Amino acid sequence: MNISLNETLKTSVLFVCLGNICRSPLAEGIFRYLVEEEGLGDHFSIDSAGTGAWHVGERPDGRASLVAQQHGINLDSRARQVQKEDFGRFDYMIAMDRENLRALEELRSETNSDTQITLLCSHDPNGDNGDEIPDPYYGGASGFENVYQLVHQSCKGLLQQLRCRLITLSRLRPQS
Ligand code: 4NP
Repeated sequence: MNISLNETLKTSVLFVCLGNICRSPLAEGIFRYLVEEEGLGDHFSIDSAGTGAWHVGERPDGRASLVAQQHGINLDSRARQVQKEDFGRFDYMIAMDRENLRALEELRSETNSDTQITLLCSHDPNGDNGDEIPDPYYGGASGFENVYQLVHQSCKGLLQQLRCRLITLSRLRPQS
C-alpha cells in the first residue's frame, strides 16, 4: 500500500516483558519485520526492554531466536531494563502480560509522561486468545511457537492501528 506520509512523522514503540530475552525480543523482531514489509521503516522507532534486570546485556534466549529464525526473522537485541527516561522517548509501551503492565504504570506514575501503555493482546483483531502472552521461559519449544503465533497476530493488529494513526496525523499536519 503506497501512502504519502509526512516525512517527519515517527511513532516510537517499546515492547516490554519481564526478562527481555524471550517475548519482547520476539515482539520487537516480528514488529520490525512487518513494518519493513510495509515499507514504513522510516516512520517507526522500535525497541524492547524488561521490567527485571537479571538478563541485562544478554542475547535473546536460544529458543526465541530459533523460532524466529524458523519464520525468517533474525533477533539481534541485547537485554536491557526499562528506565524512567524511556517514558520521555516512547509514544507506546506494549506489555506482554498484566504484571509487566502494572510495573510500567507504576514507573510512569513517577514521571509526567503520557506514554500509552497497553497489553499486546489487546491489539489482536480476533481477540480470542486471552489477554496475555504467556511466559514461555520455563516451558519447552512448543511454548515458543505458541508465543510466536500470538505475538505475530497481535503485532499485525498493532501495525494496522498505528498505520491508521500515522495517516490521520499526516492529514492533519502540513508536509515539511
Ligand atoms: P521473558 O521471559 O520475560 O519473556 O523474557 C523470561 C525470561 C527470564 C525469566 C523469566 C521470564 N527469568 O525468571 O529469569
